[in-house]
Amino acid sequence: MKLIVAKNYDEMSAEAAKIMAEVIKNKPDCVLGLATGSTPVGMYACLVDMYNKGELDFSKVKSVNLDEYYPIVPEHDQSYRYFMNYNLFDKVNINKENTFVPDGTCADPAAFCKAYDERIDAMGGTDIQVLGIGRNGHIGFNEPDTELLYGTHLTDLTEDTIDANARFFASANDVPKQALTMGMGPIFKARKIILLANGVNKAEAIKQTLAGKVSTLCPSTLLTLHPDVTVICDEDAYSLVK
Ligand code: F6R
Repeated sequence: MKLIVAKNYDEMSAEAAKIMAEVIKNKPDCVLGLATGSTPVGMYACLVDMYNKGELDFSKVKSVNLDEYYPIVPEHDQSYRYFMNYNLFDKVNINKENTFVPDGTCADPAAFCKAYDERIDAMGGTDIQVLGIGRNGHIGFNEPDTELLYGTHLTDLTEDTIDANARFFASANDVPKQALTMGMGPIFKARKIILLANGVNKAEAIKQTLAGKVSTLCPSTLLTLHPDVTVICDEDAYSLVK
């Protein structure tokens, strides 16, 4: 795994955007694997900035998102579809028909997830996958467990994740208890992965991720097995390593 330790959140965001921009410039019809949450907001802002300066063209770019709450309607201001529109898609020249976020309203999650994986395969996998990390080491919503699933699936969120995400909702009770998430298979099909982390509350998860051991009880540690992963974290998230 490659490692970039940035001074602060803004530097982490700029480093991540630089890598994303390179992928888009080298392959204008690339497939981006995207994440939501508070961590990548700055990276998306940098990409919008580059677009506004005429440095990036998203007209041929396609995207697939990692996950979405279930159930949730796309208009809900905490849905990941809303997040993506607000932070990136509405601010650049991407064709929204080429942007895919799991459908938090689907009636048959199993059938939806199968079709989502087939779509990712039909697109040829992602050229780059952006990941955040949970305090418990989850990636996407692949929560720590004795087994992890290969394909996209419906999963229960852990108490820790519901608690961590309650800050975005009126109360913890309002956080959906389930999510649709890419499994480890589609994540690992990405040709390149960047994992972003900032803040001391991610320090333990980053320490485990970089420790060179692999355990499904800390899903991010599996990234050790992927040939092209760059961890980009700020000094706070890096503070327990060494
Ligand atoms: C979001 C996702 C999650 C988040 C993680 C960290 O699409 O897949 O794994 O990346 O929960 O969330 P933040 O960035 O809000 O700390």
